[in-house]
Amino acid sequence: MNSEDKKRISAQAALDYVKPGSVIGVGTGSTVNHFIDLLAEKMPGEIRAAVSSSEASSERLKKWGISVIDLNNSDCLSIYVDGTDESNHELHLVKGGGGALTREKIIAAASDQFICIADDSKLVETLGKFPLPVEVIPMARKLVTQKLEKLGGSARWRQDFITDNGNIILDIHGLEITDAQALETRINQITGVVCVGLFAHRGADVLLLGGDDGVRRITGNLRNEKARC
Ligand code: A5P
Repeated sequence: MNSEDKKRISAQAALDYVKPGSVIGVGTGSTVNHFIDLLAEKMPGEIRAAVSSSEASSERLKKWGISVIDLNNSDCLSIYVDGTDESNHELHLVKGGGGALTREKIIAAASDQFICIADDSKLVETLGKFPLPVEVIPMARKLVTQKLEKLGGSARWRQDFITDNGNIILDIHGLEITDAQALETRINQITGVVCVGLFAHRGADVLLLGGDDGVRRITGNLRNEKARC
């Protein structure tokens, strides 16, 4: 099975968590694109609306006739479905390869259940091989780069990229993340940082991993900092 097929079967498995009539959170990336397409094909007209984490996903949802609403106009979301760049076995995630990490984190925080969908290459023993994205206010680029490099690794400015919020991304290469919650807290405290793509205080609740033998379901930490609907 190739990686697109694996992504597609994990996206298909996420449909089981969609409650008819609900408003759901929808993330960003190639795996989520499969989810949006499958949602439209297999459950047409069944959800009330979606809250989306990026302009790209909003466009795809609207193309299928799915209404997209502002988070400020919705109550607690029952589920948030999104992909990941890496996950460890505790379902702490590294996200933001597509640059949508801040909106993704906001929607994850507003959701009761975070359903993460991915192909099986995304499950790792130790986070950090995938460069850790950090969204930064443009005028603070140099300052934040210096502070991040004190944590180890090297922070590289993602060239020719501006986030949907008008900010830049620094990708930290060469980290070995052994305490994801502590690192998330530490990076969040650097002035000029908008958001770090470590999802550890609010990790995923369920990871649906597509592989050659089908979809493997891993459940996460019940103490995740999540919204309760
Ligand atoms: C977007 O900013 C990311 O967090 C994505 O969720 C992540 O990059 C996964 O993307 P793929 O589904 O394309 O692998």
